[in-house]
Amino acid sequence: MTTRSFLAIVLAAGLGTRMRSSLPKVMHQVGHLPLVGHVLATVTAAGANRAAVVIGPDMPELETLVAKLSPDASCHEQTDRLGTAHAVLAARPALADVSDDVLVLFGDTPLVTPETVELVRKELAEGADVAVLGFRAANPFGYGRLLMDGERLTAIREEKDASDEERKVAFCNSGIMGFRGPHLLSLLEAIGNTNAKGEFYLTDAVEIATARGLKVTAVEGDERDVQGVNTREQLSHCEAVFQARMRKDAMERGVTLLAPETVFFAHDTRVDADVTLEQNVVFGPGVSVESGSVIRAFSHLEGARVGAGSTVGPFARLRPGADLSEGAHIGNFVEIKNAKVGEGAKVNHLTYIGDATVGAGSNIGAGTITCNYDGFGKHHTDIGPGSFIGSNSTLVAPVTLGKGAYVAAGSVVTEPVEADALVIGRARQVIKRHRAEELRARFKAAKAAKSKGE
Ligand code: UD1
Ligand code: CA
Repeated sequence: MTTRSFLAIVLAAGLGTRMRSSLPKVMHQVGHLPLVGHVLATVTAAGANRAAVVIGPDMPELETLVAKLSPDASCHEQTDRLGTAHAVLAARPALADVSDDVLVLFGDTPLVTPETVELVRKELAEGADVAVLGFRAANPFGYGRLLMDGERLTAIREEKDASDEERKVAFCNSGIMGFRGPHLLSLLEAIGNTNAKGEFYLTDAVEIATARGLKVTAVEGDERDVQGVNTREQLSHCEAVFQARMRKDAMERGVTLLAPETVFFAHDTRVDADVTLEQNVVFGPGVSVESGSVIRAFSHLEGARVGAGSTVGPFARLRPGADLSEGAHIGNFVEIKNAKVGEGAKVNHLTYIGDATVGAGSNIGAGTITCNYDGFGKHHTDIGPGSFIGSNSTLVAPVTLGKGAYVAAGSVVTEPVEADALVIGRARQVIKRHRAEELRARFKAAKAAKSKGE
């Protein structure tokens, strides 16, 4: 990678009116990561030393989000929305001492890849003063057109300002523009607003740079990578592209997906090679699945770790803090939350394990419930290694079961159980011989008497 410095300016001041949302547009999510987070992750992966995000007025939640996603990024408020050049100038404090590459990107274009960013940086490294990422648009309507003179880009004409002839050009501005740092400020300051929209267009920097004899080039990227989000429908298109990428990437890295189109990933899902994901598996954020595990059909995982060689599902739910050690078995209709499940432990059917530790090699019977909540606070259940919890047991937290404890089926356990003890927490069974026969005779006679009287 190059040693050139790289400042990324991310424009995100737009309200996104067409989203019909109370949330700033760039806070909407793809793969459980806000749009602006995708752009920040991309520029970081492409080697940005610094990022400056231009936000609109009254967007404190966006500022907080940026600080969380990229603690080193600076936020700059653009008070009036007077155009893309005006927006870049809002980040003026960040432009003071830029030496090499400055790239402007839009915060609502989440699918841009580091490779695409590299294309623009390469142009700058090879001597361009301004470099624009273009793409061939299937439908160029609404985009700025790139007007070329051989290899050189001479101007970008916005839709509303273009002549009929210029509108026929299909080579369009993606919005990603690169500048050799020392030129940027003076180009921005030369941009006026005498155009159809009365806005300060960043794209006018191209014509000004050309007139100054600077080298201006365009490089072509893929339309799919530069699609933006203006509506909820476009948001769903970006989500679909993102999911397709994640599935392809997982398969290329050695993960088996039985029905790829039914598996949904989060941006940070980590699945090792030799994991099998069956049909209809959904990942929320913060999940890792280690090698050799199988996630069976219709399981939902979020904030969980699945240790190597484990089985989860079908129809299992792992909630935040679920931490499965190697070779754990989590079966159908089992929910695990904030609980460590030890090596080789089995929780196979119809069970809730929350705020708990399940020791290695334990077997949790069908229908076991850890009663972790008393309506006010959450309490911990500690099940020692090698324990056997009989079916339909209720473990009332806080409670501790020692190593090798044995709980009789149907027990309600409220007191600590020492290691290797058997606990029976239910009424003793009573058998009354022939009593069933007697009852039947009595009920039959009563019914006959009643129908006679009617
Ligand atoms: C812009 C480009 C156009 C390009 C298209 C690609 C200009 C003048 N035009 O047009 O050449 O083909 O994107 O999608 O740059 N923004 C601010 N503050 C502002 C104005 C805009 O932060 O004052 C942000 C918006 O939030 C948005 C981005 O800049 O993320 C682009 O602005 P928008 O008004 O959507 O530009 P387009 O007309 O789509
Ligand atoms: Ca736009």
